[in-house]
Amino acid sequence: MEFQDVVDRRRMVRSFSTDPVPSETVDRILRNALHAPSAGFSQGWAFLVLDSAADVERFWASTTPAGRDVDTWSTGMRQAPLIVVPMSHKQAYLDRYAEPDKGWTDRDESRWAAPYWDIDTGMAALLMLLTVVDEGLGACLFGIPPDSLQRFRAEFGVPDEYAPIGALAIGHRLPDTPSASLRRGRRPLADVVHRGRW
Ligand SMILES: Cc1cc2nc3c(=O)[nH]c(=O)nc-3n(C[C@H](O)[C@H](O)[C@H](O)COP(=O)(O)O)c2cc1C
Repeated sequence: MEFQDVVDRRRMVRSFSTDPVPSETVDRILRNALHAPSAGFSQGWAFLVLDSAADVERFWASTTPAGRDVDTWSTGMRQAPLIVVPMSHKQAYLDRYAEPDKGWTDRDESRWAAPYWDIDTGMAALLMLLTVVDEGLGACLFGIPPDSLQRFRAEFGVPDEYAPIGALAIGHRLPDTPSASLRRGRRPLADVVHRGRW
């Protein structure tokens, strides 16, 4: 697919068939994630991959708050045969920048202009979203509710120092209802771009 088509077609898909994603495709999605840039080439990220029906079910069971109704969103999303949870690892960045070529041996977080550990993991997630489009599949990045995180970590043995930035549901697209947020419309270039000065 042409690169511009990949970008233009990228949208969050929230309804999937249960058909599996071929393992070569899963591998390509993950390999491309590793091509994301990272500050100091820290690569402080990890990806939990759930590609069996049992593991996907454990994901939803551990991240759905008790008492939440099954709605259209969860019905469509739960069908996805593949979940990838990208996680950021702040300590890897603090340690990397304490090395002699960077020299921030105090590991002081106030030195960081922005949380690059989350930013870099987000860029890896975007590469996965684009690869999904190139593969003719669909995906949605969504948040894991904070009050489910402990249960999710325990269920999958995630170490404390790894922070999920969200989760990706990936699979074969079915027609879905576009998010109501889209009614906001895409902001025009002129509103967001400041050429030469603000
Ligand atoms: C960080 C982040 C978190 C998001 N969380 C959710 C979510 O919890 N549930 C959901 O359905 N969509 C979620 N989305 C998708 C956005 O709603 C979507 O990207 C936005 O409405 C623009 O639509 P598009 O991506 O289809 O162009 C999230 C997107 C991002 C980047």
